Amino acid sequence: METDESDVFVHRLKELTDEEKQRLEAQNSRLIPEAKAQKLEREAKRHWDIFYKRNETKFFRDRHWTTREFQELINFNPEQKIVFLELGCGVGNMLFPLVEEGFDNFYFYACDFSPRAVEFVKSNKLYDPSKMSAFCADLTTEELFENVPEGSVDIASLIFVLSAVQPASWGRVARTAWRALRPGGTLLFRDYGRYDMAQLRFKPGHKIADNFYMRQDGTRSYYFTEEELANVFTSAGFEILENSYVQRRTVNFKEGVDVPRIFVQGKYKKI
Ligand SMILES: C[S@@+](CC[C@H](N)C(=O)[O-])C[C@H]1O[C@@H](n2cnc3c(N)ncnc32)[C@H](O)[C@@H]1O
Repeated sequence: METDESDVFVHRLKELTDEEKQRLEAQNSRLIPEAKAQKLEREAKRHWDIFYKRNETKFFRDRHWTTREFQELINFNPEQKIVFLELGCGVGNMLFPLVEEGFDNFYFYACDFSPRAVEFVKSNKLYDPSKMSAFCADLTTEELFENVPEGSVDIASLIFVLSAVQPASWGRVARTAWRALRPGGTLLFRDYGRYDMAQLRFKPGHKIADNFYMRQDGTRSYYFTEEELANVFTSAGFEILENSYVQRRTVNFKEGVDVPRIFVQGKYKKI
């Protein structure tokens, strides 16, 4: 086996070395000016759309870990009809592995605010309009409910999406997910964790605010603590089933890569 991936779930924040502390401190030497930060917010959708124009479907890997991590996706009576909603679906890296695994009793909704991403989903050879519906929606607005009836969804997912949203709008996104779910429905969550190596790598000139950065291509990324997420989702009306850091090591022996990553994973139930 050439690649080995393992996840360890922990409830403590990564401890920084002195060198890592210095790197984080250096990021403060040149912050993004307020006017530019506001422009990035106004143009968030455009930057993601350009991202997909440039990268097409080649950037993110298919998320084959979802059924391992989220047993909610497989633990139910196979006769039962399940309505699944992917919030911020990108080009379908979570959706299509589920379709391929033969989730025949699922109806899939998939939305993203990038029109190009949604077009890639719709032109995928596995896209079947009788079993799924992909559409554009900005999760910080009411747009989702033009396509999804409130309270109709059994399982929703928010995978590496909230980090792309400015902190002031997290509550609106959480509330959108809450309104879409039926009572008892579950939101599955994974995103970047505090002091992930990608956060430590940002050079001066990229920091917008505490733990919030601009990448070279104008897309943005936040690095969460588990407490912040617990706060966002309980404030939106969810009960927390699971909420912790995931330390993931991806070792690729052939390419000599050994990368420790820090994510946060949560399962939140609508009560
Ligand atoms: C890092 S990608 C993850 C895509 C996908 N969930 C996956 O796991 O491959 C983040 C996605 O969130 C989408 N996004 C960011 N802000 C959004 C918003 N306010 N409303 C809808 N989608 C948004 C972006 O267009 C992008 O496709």
